[in-house]
Amino acid sequence: MTKIQTIERFIFERQPHTAHGEFTNLLYDIALVAKLIAYKTNRAGLVDILGRVGVVNVQGESQQKLDVFADELIVRICDHTGRLCVMASEEREDIITIPSEYRKGAYVLVFDPLDGSSNIDVNVSIGTIFGIYRCKDWDLRGRLEDVLQPARDLAAAGYILFGASTMMVYSTGQGVHGFTLDLEIGEFLLSHENMELPEPPAYYSVNHAYYERWSSNVQRYVRWLQGQDGSDAPILSSRYIGSLVADFHRNLLRGGVFFYPAEIKKPNGKIRLLYEAGPLAFLIKQAGGYASDGRQPILDITPANLHQRVPFYIGNHSLVKRAEYFIGQDE
Ligand code: AHG
Ligand code: MN
Ligand code: MN
Repeated sequence: MTKIQTIERFIFERQPHTAHGEFTNLLYDIALVAKLIAYKTNRAGLVDILGRVGVVNVQGESQQKLDVFADELIVRICDHTGRLCVMASEEREDIITIPSEYRKGAYVLVFDPLDGSSNIDVNVSIGTIFGIYRCKDWDLRGRLEDVLQPARDLAAAGYILFGASTMMVYSTGQGVHGFTLDLEIGEFLLSHENMELPEPPAYYSVNHAYYERWSSNVQRYVRWLQGQDGSDAPILSSRYIGSLVADFHRNLLRGGVFFYPAEIKKPNGKIRLLYEAGPLAFLIKQAGGYASDGRQPILDITPANLHQRVPFYIGNHSLVKRAEYFIGQDE
């Protein structure tokens, strides 16, 4: 009989013998968050949760109720556990400090509470992305510099996908592992151990409606992906959901490249370095792939501010390297 592995058991069995369990427990906290958001999203059409709240977040985008719910839930579950020194959320302007009545911990949590929020109202997959860093200074309560670390220094990263089923996928730097929520027993069970990007890749994923906004080099890259430019072109099909987690997850399983390029009027594109690009770059490396801003590895970029955006190319090594080649050409 195949072994049934809960996420708790899997995380526990892999923690180093010297560990105090703080980090392990932080991953359990996130698994709990995942179950609660999954429960809420599954009921999204039933209760009065759909529709925009009417407020605009720090990125200038209108928030929806589930974004607010997910953001507040993560903070409520994680602020008093003694495992964190500071947090940062895509939905909040400033860092989230740990209230002084609670013990401070050794880790930093960054998160995009609900990614792909334009898809909530239409019952299409959405997700949560998280990254965990180590606090830089033990003596102090968390500061901005604890959060502004390059993704190469992540201790762990992952996402939760609220799709046809709910999955939690994470890496602590020892491979990428996926767990599927069994609704009957309320547990995440190991379903995808050691995920690796397949070759040859199957898909490219980009919002084609923005073609005219891209540089001619990006346009040439897209034509190459389509097989119009050169004999070494890959044979790909196209898929784009508009929820980064869902697009990333599909391409992780099937192979491919997702990109959100710089636009002529938006030179940094749309994707946020700290909450989206960084954690996914950490995961893709663990799965044998590569992530770039078109010129350098995402893993090497130290964020200058919390909500910094970055052009983003992620997927199979050969496809992302080819993007760098085209982008590096003279215009
Ligand atoms: P968020 O919902 O957290 O603001 O992120 C949305 C992002 C990302 O999920 C997706 O890849 C991208 O926006 C889609 O943007 P377009 O609609 O411009 O293609
Ligand atoms: Mn997002
Ligand atoms: Mn979001």
